[in-house]
Amino acid sequence: MLNSDSMYNPEHLLRIAEQARNNAYCRYSGFAVGAALVTESGIIYTGCNIENASYPAGICAERVAFGKAISDGHTKFRAIAISGAQKGKQAEVPCSPCGMCRQFMSEFCQDDFQIILAEDKIYLMKDLLPVRFDFR
Ligand code: THU
Repeated sequence: MLNSDSMYNPEHLLRIAEQARNNAYCRYSGFAVGAALVTESGIIYTGCNIENASYPAGICAERVAFGKAISDGHTKFRAIAISGAQKGKQAEVPCSPCGMCRQFMSEFCQDDFQIILAEDKIYLMKDLLPVRFDFR
């Protein structure tokens, strides 16, 4: 967890997501993902993917970041930056969140929550998961 006095800017958040990739435990896929999530109050939580010998037990970087923040009592969020590439390589192609992560994130995010894949690739929650499932 990092405190962010100046809220976030996309470039800064992407750099933090890139750093979080270094901790990815991805011995099965070799694909390292990092995420940097900003709470409503401006705190930044990082996450990385954590794989498992029982493959479906692995978890994506985005849900790790959300889990860390939610377990600290945060339930409202502004944005997430995601960075993914083969471990040890520079991330050059945008890494878009998987379907399960989109549904998971949508539980805690408004339509205008930003999903930052690159400085010039910033999506809104409502565009990445339109007509999302909800029964509340
Ligand atoms: N992965 C993520 O961490 N986030 C995503 O949105 C897509 C996929 C991880 C899961 C797995 O550890 C690796 O990337 C390859 O699928």
